[in-house]
Amino acid sequence: MKALVCRDFGPIDNLTWEDIIDPSPKKGEVIVNIKAAALNFPDNLIVRGLYQFKPNFPFSPGSEGAGVISDIGENVENFKIGDKVSFICGWGSFAEKIAINHKQLIKIPEGMTFELASATQLTYGTSYHALIQRGRLIESDEILILGCSGGTGLAALDIAKAHHARVIAGVSSEEKATLCKRYGADDVVIYGSNKLDKNGQKELSSKFKEKSKKGGFDIIYDPIGDCYTEPALRSINWKGRYLVVGFAAGEIPKIPLNLTLLKGCEIVGVFWGAFTGYEPKNNIDNIIEIGKLLKAKKINPFISKELPMKSAADAIRMIGERKVLGKVVLVNE
Ligand SMILES: NC(=O)c1ccc[n+]([C@@H]2O[C@H](COP(=O)([O-])OP(=O)(O)OC[C@H]3O[C@@H](n4cnc5c(N)ncnc54)[C@H](OP(=O)(O)O)[C@@H]3O)[C@@H](O)[C@H]2O)c1
Repeated sequence: MKALVCRDFGPIDNLTWEDIIDPSPKKGEVIVNIKAAALNFPDNLIVRGLYQFKPNFPFSPGSEGAGVISDIGENVENFKIGDKVSFICGWGSFAEKIAINHKQLIKIPEGMTFELASATQLTYGTSYHALIQRGRLIESDEILILGCSGGTGLAALDIAKAHHARVIAGVSSEEKATLCKRYGADDVVIYGSNKLDKNGQKELSSKFKEKSKKGGFDIIYDPIGDCYTEPALRSINWKGRYLVVGFAAGEIPKIPLNLTLLKGCEIVGVFWGAFTGYEPKNNIDNIIEIGKLLKAKKINPFISKELPMKSAADAIRMIGERKVLGKVVLVNE
C-alpha cells in the first residue's frame, strides 16, 4: 500500500508518499481501507516533533479517518468485513490502510459520506465537549470564538448557533470574516495576522468589548492563544468561562490572575483526547448528540477542500501557513 511516511522529525518537505508493507491485524484489530482522512492542526506539529505525542519511526501522520473494514483479527466484536467505519487514531490515517483496535471504531450512519464522517469527529468532538461540558452553554449566552474560521472554531460556531447563542467571530482576515458571517456568526472582529504589542492588544480588547451586547462574553473559545488571549479575557462577562483549547498562534500566554478575580470568571482547560479516555460514556453521549444535530441538519460541517491522499504533505503545509478554512479532507480514489 501507499502512505505518507515520516522517518525523522523535521521539515514537511521531508515527508514522502511511498510504498510500504500492508498492515496485518493483531488481536483485537481490524484493517480499514481508508477512503477519507481529515486534516487537523496537530498533523503539522507531530511530523516536526512539536506535538505532545511522539510516535516511533517510521510513522504516517493523520489523526482521524473513515473507510471500509477489509480484514479482521482475533477477538473483534461487533464488526465485520465490509462495515463502513470512522476512527480517531492519533497518527496513521494519511495512508491507504490502517490497522486499528476495534474499540476505536464507530459505525458510519446510513447515508453519511466518508468525507463527512471523517471531518466531524475531532473538531466537533472537541468543540461540543468544550462548549457543553466545560463552558456550560445556555441559549442566552454570548460567545466570542477566536480562530473562528478554522476546524475547531467553525465547529464551535456551528454548535453554538444550533444552541441559539449569540456568536462573535474573531479572525485574521476579511475572507475568513466573510466565511464566518455566511456560516451564522452574528458579528466579527478582524484582528489581523501580525503579532500584537501592548497597544495593539489594548485596541483589540476594546474592539471585542464593543461587539458584546451584555458588557462582556459569557463564553470565550480560544484555540489560538499567544497575544490574542489576554485581550479576549479582558472582554469576558462577570462569571464568564474562558475555554483554553489550543495555541495555534504559537506562544502559550501567561495571564495576570487578578483578571479572573475582577471578572469572577473561570479559565477552563479543554482536553478532548483525555476526556474520551477518562469519561468514555460521556464521550459516547456527545457523539450521539452530535449525530442527532447532524441528522436534524442543525449543524452543517464545512469541508472547504478535498485533495488526493498523495497530496497530504501539501495539506499539512497549508494548515501551518494559516490557509485552511473549515476542514480539508484527503481522499483515496
Ligand atoms: N484541546 C483540545 O482537546 C484540542 C482538540 C483539537 C485541536 N486542538 C488545538 O486547537 C488548535 C486549533 O486547531 P484547529 O483544528 O482549529 O486548527 P485550524 O483549522 O488550523 O485553525 C486554527 C486557526 O488558528 C488561527 N491561527 C492564528 N495564528 C496562527 C498561526 N500562526 N498558524 C496557524 N493558525 C493560526 C487561524 O485563524 P486566524 O488566521 O483567523 O487567526 C486558524 O484558522 C490547535 O492548537 C490544536 O492543536 C485542541
